[in-house]
Amino acid sequence: MKMNKLLRIFAVAAALCIALSGCGVKTQYAYGEDAPSLKDAFSDDFRVGAAINTWDIEDPNSNNCKTIVKQFNTLVLENESKPESIHPEEDRYYFDKFDMFVDFCEEHDITPRGHTLVWHSQVPNWFFKDGNGDASAELVLQRMRDHITTVVTRYKGRVKSWDVVNEVIGDDGQLRFSEWSRLVGDYDGDGDKYDFIEEAFRAAREADPDARLMINDYSIEASEDKAIRMYTAVKQMLSEDVPIDGIGFQMHIGKGQDPDQLRKCFEILGRLREIKPDLIFEVTELDVNCYGWNQPAEDVKLTKDFIKEFNKTYTDTFTVLKELSDEGYLDSVIMWGLHDGVSWLNNGHKNYPMLIDSDLKLKEAAYEVMELAG
Ligand code: G3I
Repeated sequence: MKMNKLLRIFAVAAALCIALSGCGVKTQYAYGEDAPSLKDAFSDDFRVGAAINTWDIEDPNSNNCKTIVKQFNTLVLENESKPESIHPEEDRYYFDKFDMFVDFCEEHDITPRGHTLVWHSQVPNWFFKDGNGDASAELVLQRMRDHITTVVTRYKGRVKSWDVVNEVIGDDGQLRFSEWSRLVGDYDGDGDKYDFIEEAFRAAREADPDARLMINDYSIEASEDKAIRMYTAVKQMLSEDVPIDGIGFQMHIGKGQDPDQLRKCFEILGRLREIKPDLIFEVTELDVNCYGWNQPAEDVKLTKDFIKEFNKTYTDTFTVLKELSDEGYLDSVIMWGLHDGVSWLNNGHKNYPMLIDSDLKLKEAAYEVMELAG
């Protein structure tokens, strides 16, 4: 066993002893000097990151900022790099926040991701309008290309991985119906409506030939139907030489997620390596929802059993992610939020989806997943 691996196991074990000493469970602040760090624990496996906002990093002495630097070696902006934030009007870009984010990442040796160039949500309506009517397919494509070229060129060589398109696979059809698919349609007349996606990838590749270009979506890790639809779409586009480098698995999973179901879905999409041997996976938005999707807004009780099941969901999931990394498929795992208190899942009830709690303490689940590392 390598020396640094032994040292890491020792450090995590020592931290775990400290964390669990005394009565009950006392966890450490994630920014504490003696706390173990997710990025160090998994340094032989994959980068570990979080979705943040620039207010988290404005003050280097803030606990949020210290937590970020201590725990993560990849980051993404939760909202501030989306088209509605950086390109609200056709002739106006606002890059100040994205610039600050990329500078911060470089200063701290953190790999920045770009989220997202093309999405049906958080995109301003001007992309799709010509006067009071619909824009033509040509106009929509030209605006989309201009957007991608401007943004990707600005961060060429710096933003290493882009969600070129986000959530384009439909929940009940082959392709999501959106303003992009409606207005661009089957532009090249080849019988499919992937045309805006194909053009998006080509524009991104042209702007930065070395950036990793990802197609990102939810539920492709947990629904075999959706994984198959993603497989079919990517296979078709790869056969037309669309420069897709990898698949982004959002992984907004629920407590109790069956790890074998994850394995099945990853296996389906892993078959794309028969066509593209270096296809890569990234986990882009991991969190564990403590509520069923349609449950009433009644706060969950954090009983011992509940926490045990929550921790098991994380350890089961990281076991699968570690397998993927060992097989060379996965090199980045990003969580969607810095801590429980700021998660998008706090809608109508308190949620506890992250590995760091709202006091910025590492949760038991964090210590347990770190034991799987290396
Ligand atoms: O900025 C406005 C603010 O001016 C206004 O006062 C406030 C009132 O509601 O809204 C603010 O905008 C909110 C925005 O987040 C910024 O905080 C929007 O209402 C809110 O809808 C938006 O939610 C974001 C959501 O994407 C939009 O679909 C979440 O923060 C963000 O976590 C979420 O992220 C998505 C990923 O991009 C794609 N995958 C799913 C993931 C979770 O939904």
